[in-house]
Amino acid sequence: MNDLNIPHKPVLLEEVLDTFSKVKQGVIVDCTLGYGGHSQALLVANPHINMICIDQDIEALEFSKKRLERFKDRVQFLKGRFSDVINSVECPENICGILADIGVSSLQLDKSDRGFGFDSNTLDMRMDQSSELSAKEVVNNYSKEDLERIFKEYGEVSEYKKAASIIIEYRENQPFESSQELADFLAKHLYSRKLHPATLIFQAIRIEVNDELGELRRLLNSIRKLNINKSIVAIISFHSLEDRMVKTYFKEWSKSCICPREAMRCSCGNDHAFGKVVTKKPIIPTSREIDENPRSRSSKLRVFKVD
Ligand SMILES: C[S@@+](CC[C@H](N)C(=O)[O-])C[C@H]1O[C@@H](n2cnc3c(N)ncnc32)[C@H](O)[C@@H]1O
Repeated sequence: MNDLNIPHKPVLLEEVLDTFSKVKQGVIVDCTLGYGGHSQALLVANPHINMICIDQDIEALEFSKKRLERFKDRVQFLKGRFSDVINSVECPENICGILADIGVSSLQLDKSDRGFGFDSNTLDMRMDQSSELSAKEVVNNYSKEDLERIFKEYGEVSEYKKAASIIIEYRENQPFESSQELADFLAKHLYSRKLHPATLIFQAIRIEVNDELGELRRLLNSIRKLNINKSIVAIISFHSLEDRMVKTYFKEWSKSCICPREAMRCSCGNDHAFGKVVTKKPIIPTSREIDENPRSRSSKLRVFKVD
């Protein structure tokens, strides 16, 4: 397949390859296959590994099946939410690496009928188009309190109250039908110095529709329960709440003692560490990568090594 047709540039690619460079055999799970950029590079760089590639977006999965056709004997493709699928992986003891590149792909963002972009003619934003909750439901039916909560928490929108109340006022006359209608409306009524005024509100709606924080939390909880050892866990996130969650989990996983803080003496056996944090600080893209792919600018990679 001609690389020019590939709609997504994998972020932090060199850094991901470097992270898994010592993995010589076993299975790497790519929880967010997308357009297969990371998976393809890992399959080429690590010729003796196999991969399990997960995505909840059927369009992404079909695309990557074709892209990775020549590796078909080494790859198993699974559709579903990574937090579910990771629990049903056969022989988890063979897993030597887990990669998750959380967030939306460029194709999802750019394809007008997916509803993620400001010029989209739908109001959808579902990564899995068979799931129930869409942006249309959130925007037209959520209560004022719920809209305020998601705008504040997931979007860190300073004018979250105003945003919720003008949406409610507008939709009383007519429901929002498309992302374009919503983006144009927000641009008219909200002010933002640097970003398009709808950017953070769209981010909040997308996180809600796809339960992105819940998914990440469940994935991390599932990884902790997997019967794996000597494995590398690498998570790329794009949102400060996600990065904070990954950092907190990795820190907890590295603790030997799990006694309550107020305990005077350790009584847990002091042998509960799952492994070690490899990246004390997150790895971020170089200025060259940001120039070449501006969408990489907020990405952060954290790595944990399971003992
Ligand atoms: C940023 S893209 C990944 C791009 C990929 N690393 C590449 O190189 O092409 C994220 C992908 O993860 C998928 N995704 C996000 N959350 C998911 C979840 N909870 N379960 C399964 N797939 C998910 C999205 O559908 C999207 O295709």
